[in-house]
Amino acid sequence: MADQSAPQDGTAKAWSGRFSEPVSELVKRYTASVFFDNRMAAQDIRGSLAHARMLARQGIIGQSDLADIERGMAQISGEIARGEFNWNLDDEDVHLNIEKRLTALVGDAGKRLHTGRSRNDQVATDIRLWLRDAIDTILGLIREFQLAVLELAEHHADTPLPGFTHLQVAQPVTFGHHLMAYFEMTRRDAERFADCRKRVNRLPLGAAALAGTTYPIDREYVAELLGFEEVCFNSLDAVSDRDFAIEFCAAVSLLMTHLSRLSEELILWMSPRVGFIDLADRFCTGSSIMPQKKNPDVPELVRGKTGRANGNLVSLLTLMKGQPLAYNKDNQEDKEPLFDSADTAIDTLRIYADMMGSRIEANGEKIFNVRVKREAMQAALTQGYATATDLADYLVKKGLPFRDAHEAVALAVRAAELTGCDLPQIPLADLKAAMTHVPGAIERLAEDVFQVLTVEGSLASRDHVGGTAPNQVRAAIARARNRLA
Ligand code: ARG
Repeated sequence: MADQSAPQDGTAKAWSGRFSEPVSELVKRYTASVFFDNRMAAQDIRGSLAHARMLARQGIIGQSDLADIERGMAQISGEIARGEFNWNLDDEDVHLNIEKRLTALVGDAGKRLHTGRSRNDQVATDIRLWLRDAIDTILGLIREFQLAVLELAEHHADTPLPGFTHLQVAQPVTFGHHLMAYFEMTRRDAERFADCRKRVNRLPLGAAALAGTTYPIDREYVAELLGFEEVCFNSLDAVSDRDFAIEFCAAVSLLMTHLSRLSEELILWMSPRVGFIDLADRFCTGSSIMPQKKNPDVPELVRGKTGRANGNLVSLLTLMKGQPLAYNKDNQEDKEPLFDSADTAIDTLRIYADMMGSRIEANGEKIFNVRVKREAMQAALTQGYATATDLADYLVKKGLPFRDAHEAVALAVRAAELTGCDLPQIPLADLKAAMTHVPGAIERLAEDVFQVLTVEGSLASRDHVGGTAPNQVRAAIARARNRLA
């Protein structure tokens, strides 16, 4: 008996032939992805064109079919670019929307495009093409961020800042050295994205629905046309795994974690209680009720958005864990978290590269968006006995065992606390008096101790690769510039 419910007027779904009733409106909306996967339209068309060229080259479709497909796709690309393409929920996803429009434009050639292909290998290909572009954008932006950081670090290669452990003043470092820590973190982030890109850059097409196809296809040729480094070597794996997307989201989470830590520091440094820096107004907002406020909204949002990046990673891990081979519709849920993580990383890097950057004033002066208040950093350094370790090291170099030196300096700090001054201000006689109980300490103390007790002396003496001595910071910056060249 003839099927009553599948319409014969061209509005039928691509797969509706065997169905006896149409899906409900709610199911249609629930299962459709077109309003978020149409972001991959350019990649879908690129993938289809490569597939069609391969089919024609192998004699599976005719040369005239290929010409029709190319003409139709050019027209569709134009319609999408001009915002004229009519995305239709009835056609479920980006793939069916484009294929349907192609058929409307070029007829039978459009219907031949899907030969030897399934939406399962098609969508896996599209995501990989999309993600490869996103990774390249992110790599470029990490570089921009790093160049800004290097410039700021160079400007402050010998600006002293209290280094903290447990959020308590520990030892002097330079602000340049501190910033270079973030260069190193983002260098590893860039390595992670570049490494992830290798696994993204493999071609699923040819896997078809799950088992491969009976047509004499040439997968290597398609891979070459699309710039893939190799093909996916197992058809079941090719259509079903999204580990590359999970890896990407993990790399985004780590990048965001690093930028979130930097944000936390900017927020802290900008707090009037600390007052180490000021941030250009355009990255801050005021309060609608408290007129005195200038809030570091951008860093706070970066810190907040790190949470959503982590959420996306967990979403994808959870999405994957229960899926049997091969493709399951669950995988349609991979896109929104993936897009969101990419968008978050891209927007955050863009804004951060700007925030860490500078501009040249009309009078030629270079103004950094992160304005350092040198005196506040210096003042903090004189309050926390930041050179106590230097005093201990001084005694050790004169022959006192380290544990005894540690004890002697602890006594000196206690004496300093009682008199309310910093270590370099204590007269030599008083320093000695404080240490009398430690055998061997006082005879090792001499006037030259005051050279190591200054912040400058302390900084200059950490003079090895990775240390905070200003010349080492400059060397690190030069090394970093070479890497980015
Ligand atoms: N929109 C689908 C997705 O994102 C495309 C693949 C659908 N394949 C299928 N057999 N239903 O995964």
